[in-house]
Amino acid sequence: MITAPPSLSTPLQLGGRGTPRTLRCRVLQSPLAGVSDRIFRGLVRRWAADALLFTEMVNATSLELGHGLIKVEELASEAGPIGVQLFDHRPAAMADAARRAEAAGAFLIDINMGCPVKKIARKGGGSGLIREPDLAARLIEAVAAAVAIPVTVKTRLGWCGSDADPVGWCRQLESAGAQLLTLHGRTREQGFKGQADWSAIAAVKRALRIPLIANGDVNSPEDALACLALTGADGVMVGRGTMGAPWLVGQIDAALSGRPVPASPSALERIQLAAEQLQALVTARGDHGLLIARKHMGWTCTGFSGAPQLRHALMRAPTPAEALALLQRAEAQLAAPGRCEP
Ligand SMILES: Cc1cc2nc3c(=O)[nH]c(=O)nc-3n(C[C@H](O)[C@H](O)[C@H](O)COP(=O)(O)O)c2cc1C
Repeated sequence: MITAPPSLSTPLQLGGRGTPRTLRCRVLQSPLAGVSDRIFRGLVRRWAADALLFTEMVNATSLELGHGLIKVEELASEAGPIGVQLFDHRPAAMADAARRAEAAGAFLIDINMGCPVKKIARKGGGSGLIREPDLAARLIEAVAAAVAIPVTVKTRLGWCGSDADPVGWCRQLESAGAQLLTLHGRTREQGFKGQADWSAIAAVKRALRIPLIANGDVNSPEDALACLALTGADGVMVGRGTMGAPWLVGQIDAALSGRPVPASPSALERIQLAAEQLQALVTARGDHGLLIARKHMGWTCTGFSGAPQLRHALMRAPTPAEALALLQRAEAQLAAPGRCEP
């Protein structure tokens, strides 16, 4: 068994022009577009009081036009550190958006330089910035000049395998003023294919002075410990592994801090969680909340007999009330005396 080095239970200090921040937890919940909304973050927070969580990525130009403000402003009501992740290719729009996020109570501003989506990258945002290092530097400088809280960057190893220079690229980001980097161990060309290259993250870690967070294929406390041992990174960020498992960040935090790892919720508790999330989404978003809840219910309702049939029915339930009734029926069946979970 790999155990966490004691250095991982110490807080991580982040500089800021005027408002330095302390990360008390070495596992971060990744920004997940369409997933990491306020309600999802609330569930993650239940298991991970101190972890840094992120908004979904927010387009700075949309904010300028008054769209998507809720994604930033709603964090004011949340407990614990929440970073706002911004993307755009316009330094002035990014600076303005960062100011709004800081005013709303953001713990830090993260700039997305890894999103592979074509329409974003083509315009020079997300991973498109890997091919525009001068613009990337100007974006960091503009945002850092606009806010007092730390400015961080989340990026990938490079654009494609043949021309990737992760060490050179990350050093440029550091020189431009980024105060922490999160590095997903894949290139833009890879998307989500293949294995994340933790050795490449290790090489970057050795070359940087600022803290580095390793990202990619960390799906359990064991993965987190192995990734940190191999990369020497200052922490890990988890993404897909938390979809349907909002307790994972808390489990990894416990493992890294040398505390007993809390058990994953039982099937019955998972169904109750799915029902809670559905109701919260419908309260917040009306009937559209059902569409958002479908994917979460599909991820959460797994691993018990009857789960495939339940998921099938949930995907087709035409109203929130019918979806809720399906969950309640499944809950009653699982809770029935004499019924054992697999
Ligand atoms: C559905 C989905 C949405 C994502 N949205 C974002 C995002 O808004 N910003 C971002 O930087 N990365 C985003 N990512 C990438 C993840 O944050 C993460 O870097 C990637 O999934 C690798 O980590 P993992 O193996 O732990 O999932 C997204 C990934 C997925 C699957």
